[in-house]
Parts: sequence; structure tokens; C-alpha cells
Amino acid sequence: MRKLSYVIACSLDGFIGDEHGDGSAMYRFLDEEFLDYLRTELPDALPTHIRRSFGIDHLENKRFDTVIQGRASYEVALREGITSPYGHLRELVASRTLGASPHPNVEIVADDLTGRVRALKAEDGGLDILLCGGSRIAGALLEEIDELVIKSYPLVYGKGMPMFGTGLDLKEFTLESLRAFGNGALVRTYGRKR
Ligand SMILES: NC(=O)c1ccc[n+]([C@@H]2O[C@H](COP(=O)([O-])OP(=O)(O)OC[C@H]3O[C@@H](n4cnc5c(N)ncnc54)[C@H](OP(=O)(O)O)[C@@H]3O)[C@@H](O)[C@H]2O)c1
Repeated sequence: MRKLSYVIACSLDGFIGDEHGDGSAMYRFLDEEFLDYLRTELPDALPTHIRRSFGIDHLENKRFDTVIQGRASYEVALREGITSPYGHLRELVASRTLGASPHPNVEIVADDLTGRVRALKAEDGGLDILLCGGSRIAGALLEEIDELVIKSYPLVYGKGMPMFGTGLDLKEFTLESLRAFGNGALVRTYGRKR
């Protein structure tokens, strides 16, 4: 079974950005040590234009071969004129309003999102599936999430967009690895307890 892995940047108080989802205040923690970690451990989870700027776009995928994101997150790229932000992966965008896909590599999922994700997870072979966010799609897919990779930065927002846009829905996870950085950032990987 391929895993659905939610890889997300968040604050100490569990927000993925301000109330509009803008997480740029966390960029200050992207120092050399942290960028080096992203380049070596999570290169598949980086957008293609960032991989290009790091000179690593030629790398073969080793952890993920598919990405799924919500329409609002996809629109962050669209506003920059980028229609295929994860061109090194198969891309799915959940949306009931977007209509036709603006790029041949991007599949729009309008109906039965859970069923589509279950079908992806059940495919033979291949790598895992990256859930890139944002909050609402993560809430919609919480039941399907097998792994959390939480990049948490030593910053309190006080108010903002939660990691999961859902109501009370208790799910238990088990800590699988923890990496601490000199600047106080942590990357915690959790597996779903089923
Ligand atoms: N900190 C981080 O690492 C990180 C990572 C990713 C994103 N973000 C931020 O998150 C923000 C966006 O998050 P968000 O919660 O507002 O939106 P989102 O989850 O990215 O997208 C929500 C949209 O996805 C579609 N959708 C959700 N559930 C669906 C379902 N069951 N079936 C079909 N379509 C479904 C709907 O699109 P339609 O309305 O078109 O139907 C919905 O409006 C952005 O600002 C982004 O920058 C942060």
C-alpha cells in the first residue's frame, strides 16, 4: 500500500500560516543547515522551480511520485503563472470549481476525493503520495493520512490557519523520527496508529 504523507510547515502553535495561509514568516528559519536537509532528505517534496534553483531538478524521485493539493494551495502557484508546480511528480488538484485543468500534468479531482486517494494508495508499486496541503484538503483527507512530516519552526503565530481544517476528529500517531536543527526548528515524522 502506498502511503499518503502530509508534509507541512507549521508554527509552534500548530498554524501553517496566518489567517490567509501565508507562511512566509517561517522562511527566516530556512538557513543553510535546514535547506541542506530539504535538499537531501525531502527533494521530491520541493516545488520544481525551487529544485531548479537548488540545481537538483535532475534527481530521480526517491520518496514520492505523486502530489495532491487543494485548489487554494494550487492557486498560490497559479498566481505566479506556474501551472505545474510539481512537474517532477504526477499532480492532482482537488477542486469542484476549477473545471478544466490548466496543464496536462495536472488532474483535477472534483468528485469522490477520498475514493480517488484510496485508488492511488492501492496502486501497485511506485512511491508514496505527498499531500501538500492546505488546511481544508488535509481536513477532508485526515482519515486517509498515513504519515505526518511536520516541519515546525520556533515561532508563535497566536492566530492563523490550522494544520487541519476540520472539526474535532481525534486521530493517534506514533513518533517515528525526530531531527532537531541549530536554529530551533524540528522535523518530526509520525506514522498513523490504526
Ligand atoms: N505551511 C505550509 O507548509 C503550507 C502548505 C500548503 C499550503 N499552505 C497554505 O495553505 C493555504 C490554502 O489552504 P486552504 O485550507 O485555504 O485551502 P486548500 O486546502 O489548499 O484548498 C481548499 C480547496 O480544495 C478543494 N477541496 C477541498 N476538499 C475537497 C473535496 N473533498 N473534494 C473536492 N475539492 C475539495 C476545494 O476547492 P474548490 O473551492 O475549487 O471546490 C477547496 O476550496 C494557502 O495559503 C497556502 O499557502 C501552507
